[in-house]
Amino acid sequence: MQPTLQTERLILRPFELTDGEDVRRLAGDRAIADTTLQIPHPYEVGMAEEWILTRRPKFEAGEEVVFAIVLRETGELIGAMGLVIEGKFRRAELGYWIGRPYWGNGYCTEAGRAVLEYGFHSLNLNRIHAYHFQRNPASGKVMRKLGMKHEGSSPQHVMKWGAFEDIELYGMIRSEWQGPRGDAGDLPG
Ligand SMILES: CC(C)(COP(=O)(O)OP(=O)(O)OC[C@H]1O[C@@H](n2cnc3c(N)ncnc32)[C@H](O)[C@@H]1OP(=O)(O)O)[C@@H](O)C(=O)NCCC(=O)NCCS
Repeated sequence: MQPTLQTERLILRPFELTDGEDVRRLAGDRAIADTTLQIPHPYEVGMAEEWILTRRPKFEAGEEVVFAIVLRETGELIGAMGLVIEGKFRRAELGYWIGRPYWGNGYCTEAGRAVLEYGFHSLNLNRIHAYHFQRNPASGKVMRKLGMKHEGSSPQHVMKWGAFEDIELYGMIRSEWQGPRGDAGDLPG
């Protein structure tokens, strides 16, 4: 069973089918597809529900965990964050989006701390990494605020909408994780 995580302002819970319309409205914004690789554009009716339905089997197979990010105060869905897990190497890739009306409030960073804690502590991962397009500095800022280290740049590593994109790689090893509040957590062996 995928747990629900709580932070000061957020609840991170599994997606439900009834989130589909909110996902389509928020992730359907061109600005979200523009700096991500997996989000379709245009975001057609039914795509979100199909995506939601395929998350649970992936969680059960140990391949992935995705959380809906919800405001505690209002219950509004504001974004998504997940880990794509490579169990063989005890590592995962972190990915996320926050709906445009909610940008710049520290929500992504707050959710990221909870997901890193979950990854290192509950999933017993050894390494978590993430990529962002060079032209997306807000995402790089989130990664740095999470304590991830810049590990390198890959010129023209991927293609988006017909143009090659330079990408930046960030990563963290479990021994570097200081816990969700910046204190040294007691990680299991
Ligand atoms: C990247 C994204 C998730 C950030 O979400 P958010 O909730 O606004 O993030 P936070 O508020 O936690 O932190 C963003 C930081 O970037 C900073 N920032 C925003 N725009 C910036 C810019 N153009 N240049 C530099 N820093 C920028 C903000 O000031 C903030 O830093 P601060 O807290 O020191 O002020 C959001 O913009 C998004 O969903 N973008 C589209 C999808 C996407 O790119 N996903 C990531 C793919 S790698």
